[in-house]
Amino acid sequence: MELRDRLAIALDFDDLVEAQRMARQLKPWFGVAKVGLELYAAAGPETVASLVDEGFQVFLDLKLHDIPTTVRRAARVIGALGASYLTLHAQSGAVMLRAGVDGLHDGADAAGLPAPVALGVTILTSDADAPPHILGKRVSASVEGGCGGIVCAAADVREAKQLAPRMLAVVPGIRPSQGDRHDQARSATPQQALDLGADLLVVGRPVTGAPDPAKAAAELFEEIAPTDPS
Ligand code: C5P
Repeated sequence: MELRDRLAIALDFDDLVEAQRMARQLKPWFGVAKVGLELYAAAGPETVASLVDEGFQVFLDLKLHDIPTTVRRAARVIGALGASYLTLHAQSGAVMLRAGVDGLHDGADAAGLPAPVALGVTILTSDADAPPHILGKRVSASVEGGCGGIVCAAADVREAKQLAPRMLAVVPGIRPSQGDRHDQARSATPQQALDLGADLLVVGRPVTGAPDPAKAAAELFEEIAPTDPS
C-alpha cells in the first residue's frame, strides 16, 4: 500500500467548499479524506460523493452509538453512499456493532458497491483516564461484532493487535515531532505510530490549522519517508 493511502486528513470544517479546497491542496500526501460530525452536519451525505469525485477514499467518522435497529438502518443508508470506512462506538457492544456491519453490507450490496470497512472506536484519544482493561473489552466487541478494524491510540496498537491480529488499526492523535498536541492526550509522531503497527494514520489540526497546510503536509510526510538526497 502506498504511504498516502495510509494517511487520512481530518476535514473538520463547517463548510464543504472550504473542506474541498483543503482536500485538493493536500491530495499529494493524503489518499483518505475523513469526514467527521462537523462537516457531515454542515453538508450532509453529498460530502461523500464530492470527495470520492475528487479521487479520495472517504472515511465517515460518525461514531454511531444507538440501539441496534437504529444503527442497522442508519448503516444501511450509509453503506450506499460510497464511503470506504465508517466508525461505530465499540463501547456500545458486539450486538450493536454486528447490526451496524450487517446494515452496511446490505446498503452497499443494494447499491452495487463494496461495503465500507466498519471501525470500532475503542477509547477516544483525548481520554487520558480510561481504565486499562477497557481496551481489551472494546477490541473483543469489535471482533465479535464483525468490524474490519478499530480506532485506537498509537500506544494501544500492540495490545489491540495481540487480541485481533487481522484488524486494521486506525490511529488519530498524530502530531509532528515539533508542535502543539492540542486536546490529544495520547498522541504519537507518525513514525512512532507506524512503528507500533498502525495501518492508517489520522491527521487533522497539525496540517489543516497550519499557516501553510501543504508545507505542513509535506514536512509530515518527509518525517516518515525522507526523500533520498542522492
Ligand atoms: O486535529 P486532530 O489531528 O486532533 O484530529 C483528530 C481527528 O480524529 C478528529 O477528527 C477526531 O474527531 C478524530 N478522532 C480522535 N480520536 C478517536 C477517534 C477519532 O481524535 N478515538
